[in-house]
Amino acid sequence: MQLREYFEKHNQGHVFKYWDELGEAEKSALEAQLKQIDLDELDELVNTLVKGGNKGGQAAADFSTLKPAPYIALPENKDADEQWKNAKLVGEEAIRKGRLACFTVAGGQGTRLGFDAPKGLYPVTPVNGKSLFQVFAEKILFADKKYGVKIPWLIMTSQINNAATVKFFEDNSYFGLDKDDVIFFSQGLMPAVDLDGKIIMEGKGRIVMTPDGHGGCLRGMCRSGALAKIRARGADCISYWQVDNPLVDLIDPYFLGFHILGKSDMSSKMIPKAYALEKVGHFCLDGDKVCVIEYSDLPAEYQELTDENGKLKFIAGSVAIHILSADFVESAGGDKGALKLPFHRANKKIPFIDANANLVKPDKPNGVKFEMFVFDALPMSKNPVIIEGARGDEFSPVKNAEGVDSPATCKADQKKQWARWLKAAGVEIPVDDKGVPLANIEVSPLFATNQDDFVKAWNALEPKPEIKDGLYIS
Ligand code: UTP
Repeated sequence: MQLREYFEKHNQGHVFKYWDELGEAEKSALEAQLKQIDLDELDELVNTLVKGGNKGGQAAADFSTLKPAPYIALPENKDADEQWKNAKLVGEEAIRKGRLACFTVAGGQGTRLGFDAPKGLYPVTPVNGKSLFQVFAEKILFADKKYGVKIPWLIMTSQINNAATVKFFEDNSYFGLDKDDVIFFSQGLMPAVDLDGKIIMEGKGRIVMTPDGHGGCLRGMCRSGALAKIRARGADCISYWQVDNPLVDLIDPYFLGFHILGKSDMSSKMIPKAYALEKVGHFCLDGDKVCVIEYSDLPAEYQELTDENGKLKFIAGSVAIHILSADFVESAGGDKGALKLPFHRANKKIPFIDANANLVKPDKPNGVKFEMFVFDALPMSKNPVIIEGARGDEFSPVKNAEGVDSPATCKADQKKQWARWLKAAGVEIPVDDKGVPLANIEVSPLFATNQDDFVKAWNALEPKPEIKDGLYIS
């Protein structure tokens, strides 16, 4: 059989070891997995990233020549600043004209959180326990009403979590969105290999395939036809965010305006690092190219560098919030496109079958996953714009079950934001020394999604509710 010869030629013939023992359904399932694999691409990755010991990506070889990437700083008052005011007008007009599409990457496996379902189903809000997906859906509904449009929403899943994700939306009637405005597509998968570069088997008729990283969204959007669908609706700007961050200001007219005015292929929000060694990527200039260098790749002495005023030199932290132009996605992710994102290697503990076909769960990394990162598209992009965002209004991801970036910190950050909004509306509520309200409260995105809109909606609210534990403002 041709497929078998193809795998044997590439020294991966072991995936057929149990072929004769498999039933028809198992054979077809294995075949379907194997047909997704480009073995020339895999050979190259094994040679460079597994046997060559290279970590991959595009990190600069010489850190001493790196400069901080320039960014547009956040003024004290955005609406009193000509540049920001103008950007907002441009952004609002583009939203009203239907030029914006939303895009959540939700194909990851969320292993650190340890939640037994796709991460977007995680109950993240403090009072009502709304899921991450519901929060985003309601933010989009709010914007649809505000701007008089129907903003399409792309959601990238993987083959591993697609069915459960779509079912969740079906079961919840798309949270009030029109079904046609929510476009799911599955990202690609890559085979995981052992430290000798052999594809890992997790059953006699199953190899281990894992999602190809958030950077897989570029080719995923093109190959699935999702990009063509939003283009057909007139959208040429794509607001990108990660499924784990409910604070994200996903329809931000200022950001969109700067993206459009800057004729940018790919724009980014930066948040000043909270401290030198914060575990975020760093926006840098490598020659004349903007890039993101991960904290794990940038030596600590560079992360800690300060300027003559004592301010961190590499202060711009990447929080995975971007606007992509549709043309750029086409060129970076299209099959005919000249641009191709590099793969990174990630060492993982990957269950495998041993010589007797018994499943083994390793206690130390035994294999390699290959992933593309979306920020590796930045050096390939024209006119990349970076603007500063306010951490408290943009970023509080749910990554870990406990400790930093956990459900507890995220709920506290949501409540802090609502306390600030209430304060702006003239209502002081008791907070602890970190600014977290003592009462457990929640504001629905259907009520307001930013401070200005909150103040307007609050002022119009009669009677005003009493601020007490369990208050849900909707
Ligand atoms: P993370 O880097 O947090 O990875 O993804 P993860 O797989 O979700 O979680 P861990 O590392 O196993 O705990 C950041 C964002 O990128 C998406 C995730 O869904 C999340 O929104 N992502 C990640 C994808 O869409 N596809 C991938 O292959 C990887």
